[in-house]
Formats: sequence, structure tokens, C-alpha cells
Amino acid sequence: MNVYNYGSINIDHIYRVTDFVSPGETLASKHYQRMLGGKGANQSIALAKAGIKVKHIGSINSDDAWVKDSLVNKGISTEYIQQLQAPTGHAIIQVSDAGENAIILHGGANHAHSLTDLELILSNAKKGDVILLQNECNLTDSVLSLSKEKGLTVVFNPAPMTDEVSTYALTNVDYLIVNETEAEALLNDPAFNQTQAHALIDQLHHLYPEQKIIMTLGADGVLYKDKQHTFTIAAEKVEVVDTTAAGDTFIGYFIQQIITGKSIETALKVANKASSITVQTLGASESIPDMSTIQSLGLTR
Ligand code: RIB
Repeated sequence: MNVYNYGSINIDHIYRVTDFVSPGETLASKHYQRMLGGKGANQSIALAKAGIKVKHIGSINSDDAWVKDSLVNKGISTEYIQQLQAPTGHAIIQVSDAGENAIILHGGANHAHSLTDLELILSNAKKGDVILLQNECNLTDSVLSLSKEKGLTVVFNPAPMTDEVSTYALTNVDYLIVNETEAEALLNDPAFNQTQAHALIDQLHHLYPEQKIIMTLGADGVLYKDKQHTFTIAAEKVEVVDTTAAGDTFIGYFIQQIITGKSIETALKVANKASSITVQTLGASESIPDMSTIQSLGLTR
């Protein structure tokens, strides 16, 4: 079975600041790092660190070969990464002393994919393969439909949320991974004014009864719902330095656990543990732990 990830690749510029810059203010940063990032790339790195050789589908600028080399070095299959004229996507990330982040994105090459190229790549995929998608690339809805038509298991994380996601055919998704803000946006119902997580997931399940829905709740853990089960996984209590890539780590580890036959409950616990390690270090992909770290905590047996 192959695992594909149709996902963004960004160059992250990370600035450590006391508080986020305000309108009209010029703020000196305390620390700067340039790193490989992008929700797609981070999730492929999380998969690789968890032990899955993922085939990443994406694009970068032709001058940024180092980005591709870096993914190869991390154990990711890059045969479906195109090098184009468009600039590599990038992110300007402020990380505050409270460990929160604020991100500006430029899509660049992540938004330059053609349907013909994607169809050609996916013609290699077979029924039973797994595909992961986020919302930082163009043609996401088309790839969701194409993947379902081919009988792939589809995992979708609609981050960062945009208005277009409400127009996507999410019935093509098998595992829908959202946070509370994304869940609220997907409901797209001004009459629904409940912000309580259980009410949100119930309503989302009502809209998408066939989907397995995972709602990450930050300090309150994770909520899960499908036709048969509803349960909560408690959060890990850790000191948060930087939440960037925590969600990406969670998704990579969750998929690895599901593919290797673990129960959803175990998969969520392991994913939760992995992301709790990511938040304790500054940076995106560099802060994702490897499987030996998770195993040493005794959770994966
Ligand atoms: O999820 C974190 C990622 O979001 C960063 O690496 C940044 O590139 C943005 O895409």
C-alpha cells in the first residue's frame, strides 16, 4: 500500500517576538530562523519520522533544489515534486513568548499545479492506497474527488480554513481532521451558535454521517466521532514553547498508527503524545519527534 500526500511545501521565516506586531508598529525580533515548512511538507516529515515512506505530491521553484534534497534526506519520496518557475511557497511566522503563532502565507508554487499533471500522478495510485490533503494547494477539491473515485482512503485536514472549503465535496473524505474553528466554519450555519466542542462535533457528524471525524481541542485534548463511537482523549500537560506544526505532527502519527493496524483510540493517543513533544521546541518540521522518542514513552506497544 502506498501513502500519498498532496501538500504544500513552504520556506518558513520564523521570528521570535514578545507579542505579535500591532498595526502601524515596527517590531524588532529576538531570534530568526529559516526552515523548511508548509503543512504538507511537515505532515510528510511527520509520516517519515513515524516510519512511513510517503510519496509527496507538490511543487517548488526550480532554484530551490535544497528544499527537495532536504525532503529526500528526511526519507520522503520526491518523484512527484515538480520544479516550476513560480516562487516556492513561503510563510512569515511570528512566535510570541506565550508560544502562540501568527502566520502570513504566500502560496507560490503550491498554487501552480495543473489538473492534467495531478491526474497523471494519481493514475499510479491504486484502490486501498492512502492520500492525505490539507488546504494550502490549488485544486484540492478535484484531488479529493479523483482520489475517492480511485478508491483511495482519503484523509483531509482543511487547514488553513478558507471560504472555498465549504464548497468542497467532503463526502469524498474518510477521515476529517479539524480544530474547533475549522469545524465552526464547515458548519457554515449562522443559526448554530454553540461553541461547545461536543455540540460542534455532533452537528458536523449530522452533516457528514459517513465520515470519521477527529476534532483537536488544544489544551482540552481530542474529540472523536463516527457512526458507532464518540470519545475524548485527554491532552498531555506540557510547557508550550511553539505550537507551529503540532497539528501536522498529530496527523502524520495518526495516519502511521491507522495504517499499521492500531485502533483509532491508540492512534489518537500516540498522535497526541507526538504533538505534545513538537510544541516543546521552536520551529516547524525540525521540532517533530521521531518514532524512537515516542516508543521510549511506552505508548506504541
Ligand atoms: O502548520 C505549520 C505550517 O503552516 C508552517 O510550517 C507554515 O509553512 C504554514 O504552512
